[in-house]
Amino acid sequence: MKITNNIILITGGASGIGLGLTERFIQENNTVIICGRQVATLNEVKDKFPSVVTKVCDLSMEEDRIGLYNWISENHSDLNVLVNNAGIQNWMNISDIDFYHKTENEINTNVLAPIHLTTLFLNLKSLDTIINVTSGLAFVQLSKVPVYCATKAFFHSFTLSLRYC
Ligand SMILES: NC(=O)c1ccc[n+]([C@@H]2O[C@H](COP(=O)([O-])OP(=O)(O)OC[C@H]3O[C@@H](n4cnc5c(N)ncnc54)[C@H](OP(=O)(O)O)[C@@H]3O)[C@@H](O)[C@H]2O)c1
Repeated sequence: MKITNNIILITGGASGIGLGLTERFIQENNTVIICGRQVATLNEVKDKFPSVVTKVCDLSMEEDRIGLYNWISENHSDLNVLVNNAGIQNWMNISDIDFYHKTENEINTNVLAPIHLTTLFLNLKSLDTIINVTSGLAFVQLSKVPVYCATKAFFHSFTLSLRYC
């Protein structure tokens, strides 16, 4: 992809790897839109990089994903890059009482959210690039984070298939 003059949505772009991408893409003269659940964290990034556009949303919720897409299609309809970066990692054991609910949340955030966003944002005529952040743990199993590893293996496989669609 060309690395300047894009309109880019980076999910989870206010911290960690997402923030690194945000900073780098701003340096390269791109318009960067970031989203996350925590208003304070988004505002901190906005204070540091005034050109960043922020949107609060919880990507584990289907209605928030649709809301994010509708808001971008109304306000930034020339968006051309989607970076599916937001993800969570839960340390857990199958004997935990809340194992199922943690699993549901992790699958919603790491798998269903980026797949749903991909289907939604493909409706934008300007979209030409999708970047998916997976993990080395797609290939190596770590028993403390069994569902995380499985979500990243899923997402990696899905991403490879997407290249041929
Ligand atoms: N760190 C590593 O060593 C590593 C290695 C390989 C791959 N990865 C992957 O890289 C990506 C980023 O990881 P990171 O380490 O940078 O994590 P991080 O620092 O915890 O950042 C995750 C970001 O995702 C956002 N997020 C999480 N759940 C969300 C939700 N339901 N709705 C909206 N935003 C949500 C968070 O914002 P809010 O909390 O404000 O919602 C946060 O900005 C993840 O997909 C992760 O699996 C990380």
